[in-house]
Amino acid sequence: MSDAVVERAPAKINLDLRIVSREPDGYHRLETIFQALELHDVIEARAADTMSLRVDGAIDVGPEGDNLVMRAARAFRDAVPGAPLAAIRLVKRIPAGAGLGGGSSDAAAALRALDRLAGSALPDEALSDIGVALGSDVPFFLCGSPLARATGRGEILEPLPVLEPAHVVLVDPGFPVSTRDAFAWWDERHGGAPAEAARRARADTHAPIDSFAALAAHARNDFEEVVFERHPPLGAVKAGMLAAGAIGALLSGSGSCVYGIFEDERSTESAARALHELVPDARVLRTRTAR
Ligand code: C5P
Repeated sequence: MSDAVVERAPAKINLDLRIVSREPDGYHRLETIFQALELHDVIEARAADTMSLRVDGAIDVGPEGDNLVMRAARAFRDAVPGAPLAAIRLVKRIPAGAGLGGGSSDAAAALRALDRLAGSALPDEALSDIGVALGSDVPFFLCGSPLARATGRGEILEPLPVLEPAHVVLVDPGFPVSTRDAFAWWDERHGGAPAEAARRARADTHAPIDSFAALAAHARNDFEEVVFERHPPLGAVKAGMLAAGAIGALLSGSGSCVYGIFEDERSTESAARALHELVPDARVLRTRTAR
């Protein structure tokens, strides 16, 4: 049996997220800062007679044939017709529909794994082009840096110097928020063209980043107002994180996960206990930023 190639698929949080405008094609221009986490899924791929996917783990990701990993595999074979077929195994740990980029990261890891099996058939740019067609967050997971500023749909990436690792507490409320819905809620509220938000975005997100604390001082996520309005417990979780000593707390992506960043591990233990009492039905996870 051939050897498996193994790729880590990290989760991400958005340290800052501004929606700049709605474009004529319906997509939105963003300015955001992605940070990868130690929390990760794993993709294993080995050459096989047919393309297949098996998902292991406690997270329900729906039918395997619809999984972004299989869409990535089909797109890779379209780009490299002679590439080997592969039996892919996904070990799933990152909550789904939570704004943690799990599906996008799995797709990026699958593209990397398939490219390795094909003897590095594609240049990075071609992989990124396949990636962005699968999802706007996929190029970040292909860019090779755990910290990056992103513009456009999220595919124009500027890797940033990595920061000293920080501790992260994640609250997964156990229900998904659809990214498409969250953008539609934002459009309803803002009519798609907030000139003032665009100015704010450029002023703040382009400041140099030398620590998580400095970043948290002016961080915002433009999805919070419309997502917290529909899911008030998420706003309470954010307040709970800050009350528990987080140096910053924000909705990740379009949610549903809220994260807090902490400077030391002990404070994450007491924060996790306090959050568990506040939202007993939610899952509270502890991890660190990746470097
Ligand atoms: O790109 P992705 O498939 O992750 O996006 C899901 C949906 O979110 C898109 O169909 C689109 O409606 C919306 N979206 C957007 N602007 C972006 C990214 C996503 O409007 N920059």
